Amino acid sequence: MTLRAGVAGWPIAHSLSPVIHGAWLAAAGLDAAYDRFGPEDEAAFRDLVERMRAGELVGLNVTAPWKEQAMALADHVSETARACGSANLIWHHAGALWADSTDGRGLMAALGEQAPGLDPAGKVAVVLGAGGASRAAVHALGQAFAEVRIINRTAERAIQLVSDLQPHTPAVLTHRDSGAALNGAALVVNALSVAPQIDFAALDPEAVLMDITYRPLRTEFLAEGAARGHTTVDGLAMLIGQARPSFEALFGRPVPDVDVRAAALAALEATG
Ligand code: ATR
Repeated sequence: MTLRAGVAGWPIAHSLSPVIHGAWLAAAGLDAAYDRFGPEDEAAFRDLVERMRAGELVGLNVTAPWKEQAMALADHVSETARACGSANLIWHHAGALWADSTDGRGLMAALGEQAPGLDPAGKVAVVLGAGGASRAAVHALGQAFAEVRIINRTAERAIQLVSDLQPHTPAVLTHRDSGAALNGAALVVNALSVAPQIDFAALDPEAVLMDITYRPLRTEFLAEGAARGHTTVDGLAMLIGQARPSFEALFGRPVPDVDVRAAALAALEATG
């Protein structure tokens, strides 16, 4: 029987997940399909989850705006997803629905791949933004760095994030007004939905810069950072990094050893 999985979210037309999982499925020679599902409205998302419960689908990756719903509809929610308040993965296993958030693991994998010289122990990371993307980033960075500073236009949102995540995080989480927040940072992650305005002159020359978005792949933030000699990490590495544990949960086997970045880049160029 063909294993059916896919990605749910809206809009969904430009999702790269089917390209990534499709390439791994082809390499694994599995009788499986990974499709784009939408849906546009919440009732239809619930129906999709019910189809999973009935065994029609093995599971779903989930993107905006259904990440909170995915967590709410699951029977078992991982610590990470609960801490982040959302899930990017929901799957059927042993008669129940399980939810997890693999974005943070994707972020750490991207750092390992594109900034292998960055040792987080005892260091400071700065996260720009306090939305859903920022939560996953702060949670993951907070397991490895000593301190994570959050800068956000709306201070209350950053303060709320710190208070929600601090109990789940060994690192010290702080909210900062921009000012001196970049001083001594080993890593700055952009999790804003707009291009950040930062004082590059305040950065340590060794600071690594990362952007969570991959549209465009080379954001102004990364381009300016690279021009100033900083190591940069892109959002596509994070997307592929979050897809790995997703594939293993959905299809119950290891990710085949093939490079999917070239296929994802080609799809990214084709869709803009
Ligand atoms: P996501 O789930 O992708 O993180 P989000 O929850 O909408 O998306 O968060 C978007 C982030 O970008 C927030 O940090 C937001 O700041 P506010 O909390 O102040 O809204 C930030 N952001 C969006 N537009 C911005 C702008 N024009 N200037 C500065 N920050 C902006």
